[in-house]
Amino acid sequence: MTAPKQRVVIDTDPGVDDALAILLALRSPELEVVAITTVCGNVPVEQATQNLFRVLGLLKPPAGLLIGQGAAKPLRQPLQTATQVHGADGLGELDSFRNQDGSPRYPRPKPPRTLPTAQEVWGECLRRYPGELTLITLGPLTNLAIALETDPAPLRQLRSVISMGGAISVTGNVTPAAEFNIYVDPHAAQRVFQSGLPITLVPLDVTTKVALNRNEIQTLATGGSGPVPRFVADATGQVLSYTERVEGAPLFHLHDPLAVAVAIDPSLVQTVPFHVEVETEDQASMGKTRADRGSLGRAQKASSNIQAALKVDAARALKLFTERLSRK
Ligand code: BDR
Ligand code: CA
Repeated sequence: MTAPKQRVVIDTDPGVDDALAILLALRSPELEVVAITTVCGNVPVEQATQNLFRVLGLLKPPAGLLIGQGAAKPLRQPLQTATQVHGADGLGELDSFRNQDGSPRYPRPKPPRTLPTAQEVWGECLRRYPGELTLITLGPLTNLAIALETDPAPLRQLRSVISMGGAISVTGNVTPAAEFNIYVDPHAAQRVFQSGLPITLVPLDVTTKVALNRNEIQTLATGGSGPVPRFVADATGQVLSYTERVEGAPLFHLHDPLAVAVAIDPSLVQTVPFHVEVETEDQASMGKTRADRGSLGRAQKASSNIQAALKVDAARALKLFTERLSRK
């Protein structure tokens, strides 16, 4: 008997690694993606929604997939995007790719003029599937913080939340203290982490261990056929140039795909319970995830509020990713 599919909702700010995470989820028989919602982060939210539709245009999305557009700005601070990493469009400058006949390789999609909000979409999903849904967040936590503020009760019906973000025992990637998704909206992250939701954090501690270099991406792309492997090669070019220039090696970290991989196979990571608070006051360490190892029997310590992944079987995670994205 085959195991029942796990129903998931993805909240995302595409972003090249978000795009690859979405493709991984849609190509994984263990998951049923029931909805995808967008949030501002790597790019402004309208661009994030455009990018989502562009990614969905690469394959046949599941019938009845719900789509929503979420927050256009973080709770309290101006949006800081990451177009310097992901390209001006957030997807590695896709307009620059042409077919042999000169036509655009990635035609611009036309998303519907109006979309429901992220919270409306989640509300509908939670009504349909109470107690069954996993929410996978791949961007800043603004949408979830707003939902907790406006209508928290339905969220208690979430089975789990898997969230890419934070840096527990490693340095950040935006500042020495902070990881991008938390840095962009630290107030939202703090609210979410103190909410009591069952959260598994997939931080930089593990995502920076799961990376492909330029040659490995070429091998993935040429080993497969069809639009998805080619998209992997096209979309990652800009990020690889960035990491080569800034970090000294052309490496593409599979941050967001690893969060999806954890939903597919939780045994890919080992988690540790922590009490995590997010820094929201001090400018130098804004967005830092301050983690304390649970109560350990000491009354003055706060109890754990998060399971954080600290170890990953990187070889197995990479195998899962490359097998599924090199398929036609
Ligand atoms: C996170 O930041 C974003 O740029 C990526 O999409 C990922 O979600 C990694 O720090
Ligand atoms: Ca992301």
